Amino acid sequence: MAATAQLDVRAQFPTLQRDGVAYLDSAATSQTPDVVLAAMDDYYRHHRASVHRGTYPLASEATDLFEGARTRIAAFVNWAARDTVFTRNASEALNVVAHGWGRRHVGPGDRILVTRMEHHSNFVPWWMLAKETGAELVEVPVDDEGVLDLDVLDGLLPGAKVLAVAHVSNVVGTINPIAEIVRRARAAGVVTVVDGSQAVPQMPVDLGALDADFYAWTGHKAYGPTGVGVLHGRHDLLLDTEPLIGGGHMISSVSFDEVRWAAPPARFEAGTSAIAEVIGLGAAVDWLAELGMENVRAHEVDLTAYALERLGAEEDVTLHGPLDVERRGALISFALKGVHPHDVSEILGRRGVCVRAGHHCAQPLMQHLGESATTRASFAVHTAREEIDALVDGLAEVRRIFA
Ligand SMILES: Cc1ncc(COP(=O)(O)O)c(C=O)c1O
Repeated sequence: MAATAQLDVRAQFPTLQRDGVAYLDSAATSQTPDVVLAAMDDYYRHHRASVHRGTYPLASEATDLFEGARTRIAAFVNWAARDTVFTRNASEALNVVAHGWGRRHVGPGDRILVTRMEHHSNFVPWWMLAKETGAELVEVPVDDEGVLDLDVLDGLLPGAKVLAVAHVSNVVGTINPIAEIVRRARAAGVVTVVDGSQAVPQMPVDLGALDADFYAWTGHKAYGPTGVGVLHGRHDLLLDTEPLIGGGHMISSVSFDEVRWAAPPARFEAGTSAIAEVIGLGAAVDWLAELGMENVRAHEVDLTAYALERLGAEEDVTLHGPLDVERRGALISFALKGVHPHDVSEILGRRGVCVRAGHHCAQPLMQHLGESATTRASFAVHTAREEIDALVDGLAEVRRIFA
């Protein structure tokens, strides 16, 4: 199907029916379309039971809905369902890797590579692992545009154990060439842990082609509910990863002498899962697949180009990240000269324009940019150009107040 630039889905989002709301904060969390709410409501009203345990029809229905969602969520990114683990969020997924895999494979003096653009979710767990094991945390730098230099990366890879890298930066929007990074890392024997939280909702993601060792993302940014994250891993590596939480469902046998883990994904899913949330996320990826991820990307590229043009025309606005839309995701961090981002976002908020201000949980990157905070506008399938106009008009008011 040829990509079309304009999607017309706004009417499907209950929150967006509020008057005068320009929701430009989907990079923080997305809005929820009716189909996702309906899928969760259907589970609670008609199929509620625990999964994987009961043998009565209601329990089988719930299990089918839950495991069916896993199959479709895995297929959405072209990965095997058995190697697709549900967690609470992306942070938990990355902690499973850093601690469950890392404690087994990383020791004193080993090098852990982490890019300067990581969200704290793919930074702090590695920092913790380094502290715990005596490994060395090594920065993979970014340039002034917020882009990784692969030649520099090449110099850091030999002898390293693991590389933590974002697919798309949540601050500067950079899209990293993951397939190429994985190819180089694998040639050097380095395991790749990719944070796809910003990528999966925005663009086609084919994990079979990217070939990363671990790939994490989060439901609440992908039009799904809060409370569910996803970890995909290579089967042999998941088998070689310890669970972080013990309890029901994650074992194959238990005695006073010995506990044996179940195979993945159950091994990492102790206790009762976020059943309704997984079912909701299944509905979200069905809905995205129906829209076509090429169309989602085309729509958001169009909006990002428009926003870069409009904001770039303002003399007192500094834009962060690559200016080439093909190399960036659908978000823009910027500074308005002389006004703190919190003031910018508060005044915009009073006008219904919802943007995020702060360090975006990426303080090492902010230190590199020389900013303590930025204002960030992010775009989604339902965003319209008029909302970007409302943002730019709002900046005029910010200037009036601070003049
Ligand atoms: C790039 C990136 N990684 C990870 C996260 C954290 O996701 P979660 O809150 O689901 O753990 C975010 C959310 O802001 C993000 O933007």
